[in-house]
Amino acid sequence: MSDKPEKFIDENGLRLDGRRVDEIRPMTVEMGVLSRADGSCYLEWGNNKVLAAVYGPRELHPRRLQRPSEALVRYRYNMAAFSVEDRIRPGPSRRSTEISKVSGEAFEPVVMKQFYPGAVIDVFAEVLQADAGTRTAAINAATLALVDAGIPMKGLVASCAVGKVDGQLVLDLNKPEDNYGDADLPIAMTEDGEITLLQMDGNLTADEIAKGIEMVRKGCEQIFAIQKEALLSKFGTADEEEILKEAELQAEVATSEDESEDVEVISETVSEAEIQAEDDELEAEDEDEDIELQDEAEAFTDDEVGDASDEAEDLFGEDVSEFEITENAESEDDSSSEPEGAESDEDEGEKNE
Ligand code: CDP
Repeated sequence: MSDKPEKFIDENGLRLDGRRVDEIRPMTVEMGVLSRADGSCYLEWGNNKVLAAVYGPRELHPRRLQRPSEALVRYRYNMAAFSVEDRIRPGPSRRSTEISKVSGEAFEPVVMKQFYPGAVIDVFAEVLQADAGTRTAAINAATLALVDAGIPMKGLVASCAVGKVDGQLVLDLNKPEDNYGDADLPIAMTEDGEITLLQMDGNLTADEIAKGIEMVRKGCEQIFAIQKEALLSKFGTADEEEILKEAELQAEVATSEDESEDVEVISETVSEAEIQAEDDELEAEDEDEDIELQDEAEAFTDDEVGDASDEAEDLFGEDVSEFEITENAESEDDSSSEPEGAESDEDEGEKNE
């Protein structure tokens, strides 16, 4: 470990890494980096490198841990053995258990857990390279991984630390400032400015804490901007009005499903046209429960029907000139495929833990 520097801030007001006291380190994010996770994000912040992965919502096992009216959000913060100068002993430690607990709670006000009773949403934050501020970096990455997984959220969460060196408050501590400074105050907050995590090492006066929180607020504004830029580049450049319209439509869909006590949330972005098409389809199904493709087939010429049934015969090896699809057949298909996926995910989750 490097020795304690004589001075942390030079006569020009610059820190050891050239930043001003109220500047955060450069941050880059990339979403959707893991194909097997439901959502993921790789984040670099200064020399920190963090990978966040979200699995779920999926059925929680053992069942006794299930919450009847909402999902359980599990957050696991882990430092890779090679992420620091001295090797870290693999497995949970007191530090990582504490960070996991408080970081998971930082998402409490935003994740709409009520949509997934009995389910679990697993968030894994893996620190690949640590350089002070890893819990805050992990929260910033986890927010984007949750969005990437399609988890409905009321807003984003950003996190940044403030501390004190040479008698001055400094934003987003680097390694020497964290190791040898007088205080470290990591904070997470929602876009509304609600503080969802606040921890402190060292000594700060009440006045310094208040000023520090304001500095963090400004830092988090910059982080929200970076997160939103990543979201726009991944999910398109829809304008704000369009986004709000879609959010309202999704809320209507979710509410009507909630009322029927058969809560199944559509977490993917659904365009207005798709919702309209689905409504039309549902109406048609109401009128006549069985959808008979036979009727539709009459619209084709005999030759077209002949060609199609020949192709189907090639594929299935039998005469399939008449189809009948019922609602039940569809729902049976759905239910037979889901538990399998959930099972294998669960196996993966258990292996991970
Ligand atoms: O990383 P964060 O600031 O959230 O947590 P910390 O406990 O204040 O740790 C500060 C830094 O010390 C980490 O980012 C690591 O670089 C380093 N550290 C370490 O070298 N070995 C550990 N067992 C824990 C932390």
